[in-house]
Amino acid sequence: MNKIICLNPLSIEGLQLLPKSYEIVEDLSQATGVLVRSANMKDLKLPASLLAIARAGAGVNNIPINQCAEKGIVVFNTPGANANGVVESVIAGMLIAARDIVGGINWVKANSAQKDIASLVEKNKKQFSGTELLGKKLGVIGLGAIGYRIANAAIGLGMEVYGYDPFIPVKCAWNLSRHVKHVDYLENLLKNCDYITIHVPLNHKTEKLINKEAFEKLKDGAILLNYSRDKLVDEDALEEALESKKLRKYVTDFPNDRIVNLKNIIAIPHLGASTEEAEDNCAVMAVEELKDYIDNGNITNSVNYPDCSLGALKKPVRLAVAHKNIPNMLGKLTVLLGNKGVNIADMISKSRGEYAYALFDLDRDIPLEILNSIKDIDGVIKVRTLALE
Ligand code: MLT
Repeated sequence: MNKIICLNPLSIEGLQLLPKSYEIVEDLSQATGVLVRSANMKDLKLPASLLAIARAGAGVNNIPINQCAEKGIVVFNTPGANANGVVESVIAGMLIAARDIVGGINWVKANSAQKDIASLVEKNKKQFSGTELLGKKLGVIGLGAIGYRIANAAIGLGMEVYGYDPFIPVKCAWNLSRHVKHVDYLENLLKNCDYITIHVPLNHKTEKLINKEAFEKLKDGAILLNYSRDKLVDEDALEEALESKKLRKYVTDFPNDRIVNLKNIIAIPHLGASTEEAEDNCAVMAVEELKDYIDNGNITNSVNYPDCSLGALKKPVRLAVAHKNIPNMLGKLTVLLGNKGVNIADMISKSRGEYAYALFDLDRDIPLEILNSIKDIDGVIKVRTLALE
């Protein structure tokens, strides 16, 4: 029985896809797989039984992905599954920043007991007026599953859109509107755009991506939107930019104690992907990725191992080996199998950074002695065999 723990409540649409050979457990120490949304896993003790973690969402900054890779625990996310929810939130963010819609709503509430509110509105509304999105310049930093959709949607709204992404995924590039202008240097996007929205993962390379220098380059009075993660923006520099009015408004889905009371912040309680549709899509994708890995050894959408698949199990046995990406690993594995008289019917091997993964479809089961010899090869991290039922 495969034991799955849900560290956050997940949509039933996903959980109901778990077959009878899976059970939901409460105890991490026995788990085969973890399903998680935002629970912080950084300080959890991960058991030897754990094969994989599937994050129902895009950001994985709550998961120790390098430590997991070292242990052969494959971490998945669900790119694109909640993208439309985030896109709609970002468009809403631009619209509520363009005029003082929040201030206006609060003003109406505060004056709701006044007599003849209708005429009072007409006298006072000017203070909440603003500008339109049509014809304004939007800079999208990061053109992944969310970023390219925002760029396309903004083109539809009549904005002039600039995109910056030195690592744009091929699939996203194919789907990007030809009207989006390609920017090679972040600086050029910062100094030109009226609205800037960030869509990159948070990691040691992107932390404080928008720092003092970046704020200095901004067009005066620009509006910054952050629906990705708070630490992408340097908060000292943010405070300064808001005070000096270099930055007109900061729209963020990640309020924290430091910034929540700053003037000209529109802070939203991490609602980017909080739609029924996004939650269902993420849960379904996370469960499918986890199942395909546990049952077939296939990897799709991992953030610490390469994508690698031989499809559904057809041969009697599939051998799955997670290993270091170092010379002669495949040579050692195939020679060992060959010397023991095991025929490889099919195989695939992929690498990603320091790590690699190989699948071998075998014509017959392999004895424990061979498995142990594979485990003993220097650089091998995790070995599993999967048998046809
Ligand atoms: C994501 O990372 O996918 C979004 O921030 C939404 C979420 O955390 O659930």
